[in-house]
Amino acid sequence: MSDKVYIFDTTLRDGEQSAGIGFTKEDKLEIARQLARLNVDIIEAGFPASSPGDLEAVSLIAREVKGPIITGLARAVNPDIEAAWEAVRHAETPRIHVFLSSSDIHMAHQLRKNKEDVIEMARNGVARAKSYVSDVEFSPMDASRSDPEFVYQLLAAAIEEGATTINIPDTVGYAVPSEFGKLIANIRANVPGIEKVRISVHCHNDLGMATSNSLAGVQNGARQVEGAINGIGERAGNTSLEEVIMAIATRGDALGVHTNVNTRELYHTSRLVERLSGMAVQWNKAIVGKNAFRHSSGIHQDGVLKMRETYEIMDPKAVGVPTGSSIVLTKVSGRHGLRARLDDLGVQVTDEEFERVFNAFKDVADRKDEVDDRDLEAILGEQTSMEVAEAWKLDLVQVSTSDHGSPTATVRLVGPDGQTHEDAAIGSGPVDAIYRAINRVTNLHNELTEFSVKSVTEGIDAQGEVTIRIEADGGSYVGRAADTDILVASARAYLHALNRFVQASQLAVPA
Ligand code: KIV
Ligand code: ZN
Repeated sequence: MSDKVYIFDTTLRDGEQSAGIGFTKEDKLEIARQLARLNVDIIEAGFPASSPGDLEAVSLIAREVKGPIITGLARAVNPDIEAAWEAVRHAETPRIHVFLSSSDIHMAHQLRKNKEDVIEMARNGVARAKSYVSDVEFSPMDASRSDPEFVYQLLAAAIEEGATTINIPDTVGYAVPSEFGKLIANIRANVPGIEKVRISVHCHNDLGMATSNSLAGVQNGARQVEGAINGIGERAGNTSLEEVIMAIATRGDALGVHTNVNTRELYHTSRLVERLSGMAVQWNKAIVGKNAFRHSSGIHQDGVLKMRETYEIMDPKAVGVPTGSSIVLTKVSGRHGLRARLDDLGVQVTDEEFERVFNAFKDVADRKDEVDDRDLEAILGEQTSMEVAEAWKLDLVQVSTSDHGSPTATVRLVGPDGQTHEDAAIGSGPVDAIYRAINRVTNLHNELTEFSVKSVTEGIDAQGEVTIRIEADGGSYVGRAADTDILVASARAYLHALNRFVQASQLAVPA
């Protein structure tokens, strides 16, 4: 039997550090639950000392999500380690992840400490974490740009204090695979006690080499890989976990290792992270991009129709990509048909969510001949988020626009007081007019920083999916909605983001 590579997901910590992403605690819990279904081994749920909200989110995940180890990040200082312990202590299997810079440039300019101080801090940090929990991970940050001899000493000290996983970060995505692989081999050869611990790799994608570097690490003895779904993370992001997982699943023969991941959940997980982060997955993204299993040239189509393996190295079903169905959903389809299709897609919804999905499906089916899997995905995205209480609800949006003169929008909303409120505004375009009218009603100050619209399916009756991001009161909120009318979708996406803001502001008010 080949060795197992442990999959450490940091979508909720390093992934959340992507510029512009701000998950709510409900988002984080929903993603963590899906990561448990994906069967990752470790979930890094956050950096508890970074804010009381993050501590609360990590603690919620630790209490609610069973299966994976739940960890929280901490600098090698007591208040961080205490916050991390406070957050993960109720997990079925808790871990504390302590990190500390080891490169000359970080030590001199960021930490302002010398090598002896850093070794002392690592010892104290790991020992402190160990006083709370047996499972402690230690990371020398910027390891790939550090003096290797110093890294060996630092790791030996961390192991002596009880670290159980030693994680080697390529923090700024600087390494090349041959060099990174050698670093792991040298660590195995030169660090006293290394045979007692698991070696992990954590690579960033600044030069597009994160997956290759991680696999080079595995080929040289690393048995834990860290990364994020869709490769989100600081700057150009982290290693895309779906790439590492499918590389190991597809080329286990060459790599000689396996994972215990349920690969059929990859596609759902990717879509969920895309939706809640508001970061679109590029069409040609390996494994989870829209084009990853589409064939365009005649020769390729011919080959795949005759035998799938001619041009496909992976079965799309193994990744959970919806591949069509004999059940055609139309406006005459009933609850049974929809349930059966959702079951086929492996989607689990509560009875209450199912009723919302069914009503939204009927609404779309009234305006479209056929509702396909992509339409269902858009509907599910909107109806099943366990999020936002709808403080403001759209009752009516009416727009008048022409190629001369200013577009005008009227909106009627049901407010938190249960009453309807109506107002109108003109704008530079129809969407601008709608947003101005909504602003006049809600009076919620914010700045719209992103707006994108994409077609869910082909054809003139396709649904348009609108994704927006607003900045309000120091936070960033994503809103998303789909409708066959993109102006209606725009209004609903905006209200979705505003309602998330309202919910977050209410949570921020001390009881
Ligand atoms: O990139 C990095 O070095 C990190 C550490 C905190 C592990 O994210
Ligand atoms: Zn990182």
